[in-house]
Formats: sequence, C-alpha cells, structure tokens
Amino acid sequence: MIRVGPKVVFRRFHSLVNPRQVVRIPLNIRAPLQSIQACQNKEQASLDEAPEEGKGRKKTGKKTKKKTVQGDEIDQFGDRGAKPDVEFTYFYQTLKDIVDQYPEDQYVVLIQVGSFYELYFQQAEKHASMLGLTLSKRVLKNHEIPFAGFPDYKLEKYLQIAFGQGLKAVVCDQQTTAQNVIVRPVTRLVTPGTIIDEALRDYHRTNYLLAIQFPADPFKKDALGQKIGMCWVDVGLSQFHVLETNMNELMANITRINPSEILIANDLDIDSLITGKWFPELGELKKYYISRYSLPSVSTPLLDFANRFSENKRLVQSRLDKLSQKEAGAAKVLLHYLNECLPFYKLSFDLPKRSLPNTLMHIDPRAAQDLELTETIVGGFRTGALASIIDKTCTVQGSRLLNTWLLSPSTDVEEIRKRQKYIEVFLNNHIFVQELIQLLRKTTDLGRIVRRADNKRADMGEYLELGHTIMIIDEIHKMVKDCPDKKLVNLVLPLFEKFKEYPALMSLSQSIINTINPQTLRVKIDTNRNDLEVLRKYWFLRPTASPKLAELRDKYDQLELRFQALIQQLSAKFEKCGYQGGFNLIRDPRTTDFVIDVRSSRKSFKSLVDNMDLQLRERTKSSAKFWTMEWQTLGTEMLFVEQEILREEERIISLIRDTLLSLSTELRQVAPIIEFLDVCSSFYLLAWEKGLVKPTVDRSTKFEIENGRHLVVEEGLRGRVTGVENFTANSCALDSGRGWVITGPNMGGKSTFLRQNALIAILAQIGSYVPATKAHIGIIDKVFTRVGASDNIFRHQSSFMVEMNETAIILRDSTERSLAIVDELGRGTSAVEGITIAYASLSHLVKNKNCKVLFATHFGPEIHKLMKDDKELERRTDFYQTTLTRIHDGDLPIDEKLIFDHKLIPGISSHSHAFEIAQLAGFPSDALELARKTYVKATSGLYKD
Ligand SMILES: Nc1ncnc2c1ncn2[C@@H]1O[C@H](COP(=O)(O)OP(=O)(O)OP(=O)(O)O)[C@@H](O)[C@H]1O
Ligand SMILES: [Mg+2]
Repeated sequence: MIRVGPKVVFRRFHSLVNPRQVVRIPLNIRAPLQSIQACQNKEQASLDEAPEEGKGRKKTGKKTKKKTVQGDEIDQFGDRGAKPDVEFTYFYQTLKDIVDQYPEDQYVVLIQVGSFYELYFQQAEKHASMLGLTLSKRVLKNHEIPFAGFPDYKLEKYLQIAFGQGLKAVVCDQQTTAQNVIVRPVTRLVTPGTIIDEALRDYHRTNYLLAIQFPADPFKKDALGQKIGMCWVDVGLSQFHVLETNMNELMANITRINPSEILIANDLDIDSLITGKWFPELGELKKYYISRYSLPSVSTPLLDFANRFSENKRLVQSRLDKLSQKEAGAAKVLLHYLNECLPFYKLSFDLPKRSLPNTLMHIDPRAAQDLELTETIVGGFRTGALASIIDKTCTVQGSRLLNTWLLSPSTDVEEIRKRQKYIEVFLNNHIFVQELIQLLRKTTDLGRIVRRADNKRADMGEYLELGHTIMIIDEIHKMVKDCPDKKLVNLVLPLFEKFKEYPALMSLSQSIINTINPQTLRVKIDTNRNDLEVLRKYWFLRPTASPKLAELRDKYDQLELRFQALIQQLSAKFEKCGYQGGFNLIRDPRTTDFVIDVRSSRKSFKSLVDNMDLQLRERTKSSAKFWTMEWQTLGTEMLFVEQEILREEERIISLIRDTLLSLSTELRQVAPIIEFLDVCSSFYLLAWEKGLVKPTVDRSTKFEIENGRHLVVEEGLRGRVTGVENFTANSCALDSGRGWVITGPNMGGKSTFLRQNALIAILAQIGSYVPATKAHIGIIDKVFTRVGASDNIFRHQSSFMVEMNETAIILRDSTERSLAIVDELGRGTSAVEGITIAYASLSHLVKNKNCKVLFATHFGPEIHKLMKDDKELERRTDFYQTTLTRIHDGDLPIDEKLIFDHKLIPGISSHSHAFEIAQLAGFPSDALELARKTYVKATSGLYKD
C-alpha cells in the first residue's frame, strides 16, 4: 500500500518486494554511468541535428516502411544480439543505452533534453499515460521513436507521481563539459531514502536510509548471537548514525529508526529473511521498502570517505577507525550507495554517532503499531495516533525530534528528569513560554538550509530565513538571561553555551540581513523569463550590499530615467503622427536587436513609417518592429549594466554562501537549541491544556498510576453524542512479577485500559507529563504488546500462528523491568486449549520472567479456577473487571439499556454480555434468539459428550 499525503510521498512503501525479481535485476547504476562517460567525447547531441547523426553509420540500404520501435523489440535486440532492422542515430543510441539499463516496471528514466525532461522508447510507452503525458513519436528516416516529455521545472511534480506508483526514478541531467560537449549522465537515482527534492519530503519526519550488515552466514543457528551492523542517515540532514545489534534486537531497532528504505546485501537469501521462515521477527521487514545492494568488486576503503564528513579529516578518520567491524561494514555500504545514487550531490555529515541501545526503551515492532504511536493501524494515518494528539510543536525540526523521541523513549532517569524540569519551570512562566513560542514560530530548519546551500539549492528567501533564525536564537538567549525566574535562567541558559562561543554566526546573520532585499523576495520572480528581456525590475540584493553594487545600481537608475524619457519622447512623436496605440521597447529574441514593438492596424504603421525616422524591421498584420539608434544604444548600455549587477550579486551571494558553509558545523551545533526548546514547550502546552501531571520516574520497579487516561480515546469522546460524557479514569498498581487480569463485558474498556498504561509509560519516558492524577514509574526497559488476533497475510501465517509468534517473543525477551500488555490471548484457537495457553503464558511472565503484566481476557473465571493449584501465581495476580450498569428508561423490560461506565473494580466478570452487544449491533432477532437458547443448553450441560 502506498500512502501519498499532501507533502509526504514516500514514508513506508508497503508493497511487497518481489525478491526474485530484485535479485535478477540488481540495482546497478555504474553501468549506465560508465557507458555514458565513455561516449562523452563523441556526443554531439542536439535534438535538431540528432536524426542526421546516423549518416556516417552503416546503413541497411533497404527502404523500409516507417516502423515504431517498441520496447519489446529493443529488448530482443539487446538481449539476444539479433541485428535490428533499425539503426539509431548516435543521439538516440545513447538514450536507448540508458533506457535499456532500467526495467520499466521498476524505474522511470527521465532524460533532460534542453529545458525538458523526456521519456523515450519503452519508458515513454509504459509511463506516459501514468504520468498524464501525451505519447508522441519522433519520426526518423525509417522508424519512429516513442517519446513523451514535460518542462524541466515540473520535475518534482512528475517525480511525485512516479513515487506514488512505487517506481524509482533515474534522472539524467544535461550537462556541458569543459570541451563544450553535451552529455547526459545519470545524475541521480531517486529512491525513497535518497530524496532531495523538497516537494517530495516532509521535514516533520525523518527520512532515513538504513544499511544493515548481517553476519557472513546469517542462516545458521549460531548466527543468532552474532553482531549485526546498522548505519543510517537522512540525506536532507547531517546526522550519521551507527549501531551494533543482534538478531533479537534488530526489529525493535528498525522500528525505532523507522527507515524509508533499507539496504540489504544482494547475496542474502531475501526469501528466508523477510518471510520470517528463518527468524520469525524478521517477517516485519516486509513492511519496509527494501533495496538490494552490494559493494562493487573494487570498493573504496571506508577511511577514504572522510571527505563526506564536515569535521577535519584526521578526526573523522579516527572516529571511523573506532567503529566496530559490522558498523564499519554497514557505513561503507551506505556511503557507496549514496555515491552511486547521488554522484553529484554534496553530502557532508557530522561525526558518526553511536546509538546506545541500553539508554533507550525497546519498543517491540508490534507494540509501536498496536499502540498507534505515530500512525494508526488502519490506514496508517497520523491523525488518530498518539503523535497527532501530543505534538504541539511549532517548527518542523521540533516535530521531527518529538517523533524520534516517541519511537525511542529514554531509560536514562537523569535525561528524563531534565526534560521534566523544563516543563515544570515553563508551567511557572506562562508569559515567557508564550513569547518563546511566538519566536520559535519564526525560525527555520537550519540543518536543512545548510545542506541546500552546500548544493547551491538554497534560494535567497532561505538565506534570509537562516539570517533571521540566528537573530531569533540571540533574542531567545537575551530573553532567557532577562527572565526574573532564576530557576528558569539556571536551567535554560546552559543551552546557549555553544551559541555564545560563535560570534561569527551573528555577523553572518547581520551580513545576510543587510544584503538580501526582503521586498523583492515577496515578488514572484518568473524564473523562466526570457534572458533577452531587458528591464529587470527586481534585484535580490540591497544596493548597500557592496560599493560596486551601489555604483552599478546608481548607474542603472540613471539609465532607467533615460529609458522613461525615451518612452515619453516616442509617445509624443507617435501622437504627432496620429498613432494612438501602445508600444514596448524590447530586445528582439530572434535578432537580439533592440526594437520598438508596436501592435496596431496597418494604417497606423504606415503613418509611423512615413512620418518618423524609424526603420521598419518586421511587419505582420497586427504588429510591427521598428529600430532606432537611440534605443539600440540605450538598450545595450542597460543590458550591460544589468549583467554587471547580476554578476556582482552572484559574487556577493557566493561570498555569503562560502561564509555560511565555513560555519556549517557551528550552525548544526546551535540548531538543536530550537528543536529542544520547541519540544519542551510542546510538552508544556500539552500538560497545561490536558491537565497532565509530573510522574515520579526512578530506578524502582514500581508502576503506579492513579486515575490514568487514554489521551487519544479521550480526545475521540470529546463532543460525541454518547451515553458517556467523559473518559472514565482508572488506576493501576503493578510491580515486577505481578499481573493484573482484567475481565469484563465486550466494549467495557479492557483494551483501552491496557493500552493507556503502556502509553503513560512511554509518555513518562520521553520526558512528558502524563494523563493521570499521580504516577510513579520505575524505568521500563521494554514494552511488549500482544493485542487482537490479526492475520498476517504477508507472512502466510494464520491468526493463531501470528499470535503464538508474538507471544513467544514476549515470553522470551521480557525482563523484570518490562511491561507486557496481553489482550485476549488464546482466542484464536479452541476454548480449552486457548485457556491453557493463556494461563501458561501469564504464569511464565509473572513467575519466571518477573515482569509487569496486564492481561485482558474473557476467560477470567477459568483462569482463576486454574490458579487454585498455584498459590504463588494466585498471590501475585489481581483480578479486576470493568463495570456495566443497566438502566430502565421506560416501563417495559425491553426498555432496559446497558451503560458501559468503563470503571475498573476488583473482581472477575463471568459475563461478557455478548448477546446485548450483538443486539446493539443489530443482530437479526431470530438469530439472537437461537443463540440465547443454545447458550442455555450449553451451560446446562446438555452438550457434554
Ligand atoms: N475508560 C473509558 N472511558 C470512556 N470510554 C471508554 C473507556 N474505555 C473504553 N471506552 C470506550 O469503549 C470503547 C470500547 O473499549 P474497548 O475496546 O477497550 O473495550 P473491550 O473491553 O476491550 O471490548 P472487547 O472485549 O470487545 O475487546 C472504546 O472505543 C471507547 O470508546
Ligand atoms: Mg478488547
């Protein structure tokens, strides 16, 4: 399933990777690069002359009927070596060479020709209609070549459509070599993890490309304990992450990273990996977009990639040297892949950062999904997920950080307390935080702009935003210093240590603000304007940006005065001759001469020609072009000065860009101030608006929640016309080695209670306040869920098999610090077997694993009965039930109504009220009657034996 949001095109690509197909056609862009480079010296590819280029080649001599060259036929020529009965000109041959490299069911090949991107041959036939383009044919001597195209400035739009169809894009940009030869190398291969186009990305979320380095032979039992290397980056940002893990932890780490694309070696048996046949958890890999990739036979040593990092070479190399063998392996694969996908794109990363898994809460892949942390189970939407309720950030980078925290809560008590402290002081300084939020709103994503500037993709507006953002950081800094609350000052001021160390950032900001003219940025500049047009009304820079620019702008203003005077002079003359219409002073795009463009009737032209000293250059029915020496001289002068101004502007901008890039490390170091303050103020807003409390977080084993709530369900109930006005809060008190068994009617709120406790634990450990009146949480290392019976069609497993797989993982991996949420285990098989499996699982988790267990079931009485034989388990287990009230709003028994009050009280519910629920759901009355009668028979022992 592919989701295309308004700005998000490709987060997870849920389509199945067909492993065989991928192995057969490995991702390899070296071949076309080489083939094109080899041709560079010969290429004279200009579209107009292209058809003629076949002249010097061997000809068939046959006069054949015009033939459309189909994709299939080309494949045959290429694959079988059969001699084609068509010969391509050199231009088309090079295009065909590229197109043939990429199977059209996986790739869209977009080749730039002039100011268009075009699709040729089988690519055009296959994709033109999907992209909404007209399929045309280029007619050559004896054949036709299918093609389709669009203007180059619409590239992002078409990439978006191709991505929406699950295709990768091969972009070949037209370039001119130093020898003035036009070449079209593969400039980038756009995959979900290598997106650099702004329109295709949502910067509220990270877009990670993840390389995984498995053990040499992962399909052996002893490989389970072996190390696995992971390395991931977001090409739009600068962090470079590495991690060493093992098979048990791999999926939890992938869930946390939430990559858009995963690189796995070509030679691994992908079938055994992603079907989960070999190691069940890996079945989850199918949810991700997987690219197969292996290093080239001659690969670059990792240390030679030091130039891909922004720090000095020695430091980078020593850091790379310290990576473990597996981490280094993954890093090398990732860097090679990036080199091949984005050969011309400058990527400079921060020093490799190792994630320390033991400082992060392990959220099982199932749990992240079942708890709907960042997206809903059904539809995969953000709305309705926890993130959508708690995210009150006002910057993209803040939102990105909050998402990251949500998928990897901390287990570091000090870190959690630090974040809580911010909420605490913010809650005592409402006015300060409101002002802070107003300032944060005006900031920009520094890291992203630095990356864009590095690649000359940043525009003036972005430079200006960057300049203002630095000013705003300074303003916030001053605001903090001046805050009367010393607690706040002492807490927040250390955040600005780095900022204070870099006065150069302030001068950069000053020079940007003093240089770029914000007025012109508001004017929509037509970037496709005719280069030969003369009057340039909008300059990007202020005239004060340099003395030379001031002088040039002055000169230009003088020329413009002369220009206005000339117009007046001409108008007066024209009027004298009886000509009333308008005219324009332009530069003729065809002849490049400066002319007076007049649009009027023939009669008027005649009077102008007869009465004035104008030279008639061109004449049509409705227009004429005249030439005068005066305009030719003035126009030439204006054009000259305009070009001088543009050159000077470009020089000044490149100076700014150079300064900015020389400060890129510093900029990246101060960027976290904004995102951190933004997330903390988002926590503050949430706590304030929803009445959250500060949980006590420590290293104890306690889990005590007083009057806890489920924020998402609570939000859903708001304003809904139901019997229940508000969310019913419920308490929970667990400890290691204790379990709560929750029973109650269907719809009673069992699952909600289970989930709300897991969510409260996660909220507490990301540093947020929690929805309760009081909470004490001893650090939880892992959260597991086993919720609902869902078939996993991807894995070809039945509901029960999935249920058992997931339960096995919890039974195996939970510790005394873990929280396990088990909802209706055993309902996917026969009743007695289901009950015994549920009972055994509960016993194992509580007694053997000593973990904290919340266990919802409809088998309450049965489990209670079984426990009579195990006093230890009985002692460690509490039974709770959700309550239900019957009310009469009429005189007849039929007027009886069930009210779910969702209150949890001690006890075991023996009744699921399934019939009442079925009735509420509109069950046909005779079917319901039969069910009731059968129930009576069944419970009276009629069906025994
Ligand atoms: N504490 C609560 N306060 C208010 N409404 C609640 C509460 N808990 C649950 N609900 C409402 O009841 C609905 C059903 O809750 P839930 O799915 O948790 O019931 P359940 O006991 O697990 O049912 P089943 O046995 O059918 O799985 C929820 O969608 C929610 O609208
Ligand atoms: Mg339920």
